[in-house]
Amino acid sequence: MGSTSDPKRNLIIVSNRLPLSIKRVDGTFQTSLSSGGLVTSLSGLCKSTQFQWFGWPGLEVKDSQDRADVEKSLGEHHAVPIFLDNDLAHEHYNGFSNRILWPILHYQSGVIFDDGPWQAYRRVNELFANSIADVAESGTLIWVHDYHLMILPELLRNRLHEKGKHCAIGFSLHTPFPAGDFWRNLPVRKHLIEGLLSSDLIGFHTDEYKQNFIDTCASLLGARTEIPNQIQYRNRLVCTDKFIVGIDPQKFTETLQKPDVRARIKSLEERYKGVKVIVGVDRLDHIKGLTQKLKGFDAFLDNNPDLRNKVVLIQVAVPSREDVKEYQELETELSTIAGKINGKHATPEGTPLLYMHRSVPFTELAALYSIADICLLTSTRDGMNLVSFEYVACQAQRHGVLVLSEFAGAATFMRDGSIPFHPANTTEMSEAITKALNLDAGERKRKYEYLRDFVNKNTSAKWGETFIERLSQRGKRPDGPC
Ligand code: ADP
Ligand code: F6P
Repeated sequence: MGSTSDPKRNLIIVSNRLPLSIKRVDGTFQTSLSSGGLVTSLSGLCKSTQFQWFGWPGLEVKDSQDRADVEKSLGEHHAVPIFLDNDLAHEHYNGFSNRILWPILHYQSGVIFDDGPWQAYRRVNELFANSIADVAESGTLIWVHDYHLMILPELLRNRLHEKGKHCAIGFSLHTPFPAGDFWRNLPVRKHLIEGLLSSDLIGFHTDEYKQNFIDTCASLLGARTEIPNQIQYRNRLVCTDKFIVGIDPQKFTETLQKPDVRARIKSLEERYKGVKVIVGVDRLDHIKGLTQKLKGFDAFLDNNPDLRNKVVLIQVAVPSREDVKEYQELETELSTIAGKINGKHATPEGTPLLYMHRSVPFTELAALYSIADICLLTSTRDGMNLVSFEYVACQAQRHGVLVLSEFAGAATFMRDGSIPFHPANTTEMSEAITKALNLDAGERKRKYEYLRDFVNKNTSAKWGETFIERLSQRGKRPDGPC
């Protein structure tokens, strides 16, 4: 994965999802690029840093020859599959990670705990620990990612210890970490927090998430947390900090220069001549506030009948976690609302909403970002939201306006360059869209430049390199100050 800045450094990255997803088509295995913020951020790091990336390949492979084929095709991208049985993977990924843990991490109420999925979660974390402890050498840096693997640091440390190996273990969470009281809804929370505390360094997207974690360690486990960013628990010193995750903005700038993308941009601009384009790109997930977005847009159309046929919302809803009932129900709800909005506001000249429930190719995504006057992101909670960064990376010409929910982690850093609003307040959302449409060129330029500087400064490469450097220091001095 790219050239290495430090050839002597041995780095293993672990996440549930690999950068490539594998599908079996007519008896052969085909790979495609995975979507999501985690893959985007780690793929951006590949340019400067070499690592092996361990994760679940996304499908069951039983036959040994098939396994060798999958290993070979992933190996070309330095990715290593950890094979799981279908039932176990389903209970771990859909059952516990996405139906129980994900909603709690995003402040959603009404979650019902079930012991079966929790046992599957433990088992999968154990299998990951066994695989990685086998291949890691003493001195290898191990960087674990996200909520699917929260107890892995503890299990891994134990396995490594049994094998007489010592490795620094880092962990990064790509979701919010909720305030302590909300976290109490999860009966197994103590296991998860203790699992994390076997890490040497734990990274969060914002100071708020980090502080929620520190406060939970103190209140739930009685850990000592008087020194900022340090957690003392059971004779171990754990460091924690905010690491701003980002994108690779150059990838977008280069894509926008390609002749086919330029041609596509030109044709879209002609198609939408005289029409203001609002774009939204989100995984189809409750946390993205898509229901709220459609209702807010409906309110905006109600409030501005003079703008009929002059504004269009192009909403890409990328299919996600489709085996989970709540995600299927959300899709049905969204198609219904989308139909109603067009039924109410369409004219023979056109429809105000283009709702696309599918994944679009990267070049098309870049073209859409580039032609849009506004990007509307309505997350009810969101770890960071890298789509907001990507929109900015494609706006050098147009200086489009980012209308960003105050609940996206990105809003912590982008408030002055965007138009913030509360996603549950449709009136506020409608007013925010109106404000964005009416911003004068000078103000749009000022906001754009603020965001551009932030996005260019906080790249995924910088995020990864900073974390790895800090982890490496921890490996050299595990008891030294953070
Ligand atoms: P999340 O991690 O919750 O999905 P983010 O906004 O942080 O949310 O990241 C979404 C990422 O998924 C973005 O980098 C976006 O470009 C990417 N993405 C969206 N659609 C596709 C697609 N069709 N193929 C690949 N990546 C995609
Ligand atoms: O943002 C949290 C996250 O889990 C990311 O780690 C991941 O990129 C994204 O959501 C998509 O999730 P999944 O792996 O379930 O498709």
